[in-house]
Amino acid sequence: MRVEPVEGVEGVYWIVNHDRGGAARRLATVNLCPGRSVYGESLEHVGGVEYRIWDPYRSKLAAYIMKGAKRLPIKAGDRVLYLGAGSGTTPSHISDMVGVKGTVYCVEFSQRAMRELIERLSARVNVYPLLFDARFPERYSGFVRPVDGVYCDLAQPDQAHIMARNAEAYLKKSGWGLIAVKARSISVVAEPELIYIRELETLKSRGFKILDEKRLEPYEKDHLMAYCLFEA
Ligand SMILES: C[S@@+](CC[C@H](N)C(=O)[O-])C[C@H]1O[C@@H](n2cnc3c(N)ncnc32)[C@H](O)[C@@H]1O
Repeated sequence: MRVEPVEGVEGVYWIVNHDRGGAARRLATVNLCPGRSVYGESLEHVGGVEYRIWDPYRSKLAAYIMKGAKRLPIKAGDRVLYLGAGSGTTPSHISDMVGVKGTVYCVEFSQRAMRELIERLSARVNVYPLLFDARFPERYSGFVRPVDGVYCDLAQPDQAHIMARNAEAYLKKSGWGLIAVKARSISVVAEPELIYIRELETLKSRGFKILDEKRLEPYEKDHLMAYCLFEA
């Protein structure tokens, strides 16, 4: 087994396995809490370091990297505001990437998902669970300091506006945004491509400059990931 950095993506690695049939590679992050798996992902040990395998069929951010994200803005020490944290699958990998000096504020309004997130991520010192509705960023102002980036995966029709509202409240100037657009949660009849165009136009009208966009098939059907900078 060999480890290689993923080009342009800090803190994410390829775990390369060689066998008679050739080489197979899987994405991974360095486990912030060695010995603990978060959602059943496998742990691999190479050169005295423990890596957590990152499944692109379970995480849209991993799917985006697999689809050839040229660069990702997330780096060690970053403070990240994560909107729609679910039960913590992708937040756990961002927690690995930002490390002990970074912070992941996890906003989630479902009590059930939040309970699971807390059970899974309580050992991670850089994760701050926030049981709030992301549509009202002012309600968590007492808990969040200015952030380097906003990650948005709410699967809501108005999520571009929700991301913009949170960026206005907490994102540093020229901070980054990553947004996963699920076409089917916006309209079940409209063409996904038209939905993507509309969502990107909304982001631009709210002060974001789009740097990259990728469809996430075959990992996620009718999903787009957009990477942007906040210039408002
Ligand atoms: C697609 S899931 C998130 C999966 C997670 N991002 C991951 O990759 O591990 C979307 C989540 O957003 C949450 N959500 C939707 N609208 C919300 C809102 N207005 N405020 C907070 N959470 C919201 C849902 O409860 C759900 O858990």
